[in-house]
Amino acid sequence: MGTAVITGASSGLGEVFAERLAKRGYDLKLVARRKDRLDLLAEKLENQYGIKVTNLVSDLSLDTELEKVAEDLRNDKSITLLINNAGTSTLNSVTKTSVVKQKEMVNVNITALMLLSNAVLPQFLEKNEGTLINIASVLGFYSLPVSAIYSGTKGFVIQYTKGLQEEVKGTDIHIQLVNPATTATEIWEVSGVPLSVLEQSTIMKTEDCVDAVLAGLDQGELLTYPSVNDQNLIDTYEDARIKLMQGSQTGQPAERYIKS
Ligand SMILES: NC(=O)c1ccc[n+]([C@@H]2O[C@H](COP(=O)([O-])OP(=O)(O)OC[C@H]3O[C@@H](n4cnc5c(N)ncnc54)[C@H](OP(=O)(O)O)[C@@H]3O)[C@@H](O)[C@H]2O)c1
Repeated sequence: MGTAVITGASSGLGEVFAERLAKRGYDLKLVARRKDRLDLLAEKLENQYGIKVTNLVSDLSLDTELEKVAEDLRNDKSITLLINNAGTSTLNSVTKTSVVKQKEMVNVNITALMLLSNAVLPQFLEKNEGTLINIASVLGFYSLPVSAIYSGTKGFVIQYTKGLQEEVKGTDIHIQLVNPATTATEIWEVSGVPLSVLEQSTIMKTEDCVDAVLAGLDQGELLTYPSVNDQNLIDTYEDARIKLMQGSQTGQPAERYIKS
């Protein structure tokens, strides 16, 4: 099975991914800032599943720490799977969000995901195998008055991952883009919007979300929406996106912009 790297494994989706992949027999490399949580999880999973767990305690918002993790991943040829799951969110209007928080979202949600993908792709291409899972969000294609920065970062994840999928077409490398909707994790407290104020019927259990993502992976999906039941909605959106792109290639101003 090789080694699965999971960023943001100290809570939420990442912690459940770690458990599910340990159960499947992967050795694990777990990344997050909270060492105590990673240590407890590593001990539990090693004891329960007899796998090897290595923790990389790192603040991925900091260039120097991110580079250390990237260097570790570049040199670890046992890696067969990377889940770029670490993410952070502050949900507030842009003018009420500090520049520090804005940059933190960009650094963790965009820069870390991009540089860690960069770190494993060369060895995946060399071996012509490997799996990359990038966790975006339904807010990557939809902005709320409080999500301009977060949605912008997840929009990057969507287009970056789609671009990578085009790059590896024809190889045996699999890249899965995941767009979860509301899921019951700590990110809501972190964001400043407690789960208790949301419509409770819209909230998915963390375990259900992870199991749906892995079911999608097992089915060979490139694009997984864990909570979207109607496949037609996904297909119609993808189709419209492609048609709009094709419709833009006219080389002429649209008629409505030409003075008569
Ligand atoms: N929950 C939802 O409703 C939802 C919906 C759509 C998408 N998502 C996405 O799902 C992914 C997982 O989030 P979650 O919902 O499971 O939230 P979570 O429980 O808050 O987990 C986030 C993880 O990211 C890590 N992280 C945050 N900042 C970090 C930093 N600077 N350096 C290193 N690690 C950092 C956290 O670890 P430390 O704090 O220990 O560093 C934690 O392990 C995120 O990408 C999120 O955007 C979530």
